[in-house]
Amino acid sequence: MSFEKIGIDKIGFYTPEFYLDLADLAQARQVDPNKFKIGIGQDQQTILPADQDVVTMAANAAAPILTAEERAQIDLVIFASESGIDQSKAGSLYLQRLLGLSQAARAFEIKEACYGATAGLQMAYDHLTAHPDSQKVLVVASDVARYGIETAGEVTQGAGAVAMLVTRAPRILVLNQPSAYFSEEVMDFWRPNYSDTAFAKGKFSTEQYLRFLEIVWREYQTKTQEQLTDFTALLFHIPYTKLGLKGLRQMTADASEDVQQRLLQKFETATIYNRRVGNIYTGSLYLSLLSLLQNAQLADSTKLGLFSYGSGAVGEFFSGEIQSGYQQMAGLTNVADLLDRRQQLTVKEYEQMFAQTLPTDGSTLEIAPVSPLAEFHLTGITAHQRQYR
Ligand code: HMG
Repeated sequence: MSFEKIGIDKIGFYTPEFYLDLADLAQARQVDPNKFKIGIGQDQQTILPADQDVVTMAANAAAPILTAEERAQIDLVIFASESGIDQSKAGSLYLQRLLGLSQAARAFEIKEACYGATAGLQMAYDHLTAHPDSQKVLVVASDVARYGIETAGEVTQGAGAVAMLVTRAPRILVLNQPSAYFSEEVMDFWRPNYSDTAFAKGKFSTEQYLRFLEIVWREYQTKTQEQLTDFTALLFHIPYTKLGLKGLRQMTADASEDVQQRLLQKFETATIYNRRVGNIYTGSLYLSLLSLLQNAQLADSTKLGLFSYGSGAVGEFFSGEIQSGYQQMAGLTNVADLLDRRQQLTVKEYEQMFAQTLPTDGSTLEIAPVSPLAEFHLTGITAHQRQYR
C-alpha cells in the first residue's frame, strides 16, 4: 500500500466554438424558457461542428497544458469516451501522434458511459502506485451528447473534452483512498452501435442517478467514517445542473442550514461552466471541478467530495484534497474566455449543423476548418480513415 500523494497535476478543457442559447430553443419548441433555465438548470449548449470530433476535442484540451518534457514522460494514455470513432482502434493512439507523446507508453480507450473518466483516473492512480518508475499519466475525457432534434433530451446535449495530467505530488488535487463504488446492469440510457443519438428513459435515469448516489455515499461513509461537515464542496456528474442540485439536496437533507447554504453556494460556483456547455458525458464531473477551481477561493487541504455516475450503470464516490498553487495549474485554460468567444447559432443554424453527420458508406469527404481557436481539426475522410491536422 502506497502513501504517496497522487492526483491531478494539470487540467485542460476544450469545447467547440458554437453554441445555442436555450431561451431560443425553448421558443422554437414552444416551451416556457424557465423550464430549461430553472427546471433543467441550463442556459446554453455547445454545438459540435463538422471539423471537430472526440479526437480533435481531446487533443485541443490536452495540447495547451502539456510541456515537451511531460509529453516525453507520460507512459499511460487513457482515452475515456462513449462517442468513440472506431470499434477497434483507440482514440488515444491518434492523440499520441497528434500531441507527440512518448511511444514507450500504454495507450488505450475505455468506456462506461459518463463513468469512463473516473475509471481512467482511478486506473492512473493504481498505475502510479504499482510502477515507481512511472511519472505521468494522461487521462482524457471526450464526448458528444446527442439525443436528437425535438427529443426530451435535446435540451441536455453538449460537447467537450477535459484532459487531466495525473502525477505524484500533484499541484491541484490529491486523490484520497478509499473510494466507494457500485455497479448494476440497468437500462436507463444507452446508444446501440447503429445509432448516433442516445436513447434514454429520462425520469427513470434520474432515479437511478439518485439511487446510486445514495448507495455509494452511504458506503463511503461506512468505509471512511467521514461526514458532510468534512467537505468544503460536493461535486457531481452534471448531465444538467438541476439533477446535480437534486443530488446535493438528497445528501444534505438532514444537515444544518449553515452546511446546506455553504455547500449550495459551492455547488453553484461548480456549475457555472456546465450551465453554458451542457452535458459532455464523461468529462462533466471534471468540468464541474474546473468551474469550482477557477471561480472559488479554496484553502489549502480543502476536501472535495466527488460523485461520478455512468448510466448502465456505475456510481463512485471519492474525495480529493486541494493543493496550494492549484489556481495557477487549473488556470492554464481560460474557460470563461473560450466560452465567451464561441459563436452563437440560431435554432435553424443549430439544426443544420446537427444534421451534418459524417458519411457511413465509405465515401471521401473534405471538411473546411470552421473552428479558429482549435489547434487540431478533422479535415476529412479518405479510404475509410479520418484525416486530422
Ligand atoms: P422532461 O420530460 O422534459 O422534463 O425531461 P420534465 O417535464 O420532467 O421537467 C423537468 C423539470 O422542469 C421538472 O422539475 C419540472 O417541474 C420543471 P423536477 O420535477 O425535475 O424538479 N419545469 C419547470 N420549472 C420552471 N418553470 C417551468 C417549468 N416547466 C417544467 N415553466 C429529462 C427531462 C432530463 C428527463 C430529459 O431532458 C432527458 O431525458 N434527458 C436525457 C437523460 C438524462 O440526462 N438523464 C440524467 C440521468 S442519467 C445520467 O446522468 C447519465 C448521462 O449523463 C449519460 C451517461 O452516463 O453517459 C445522461
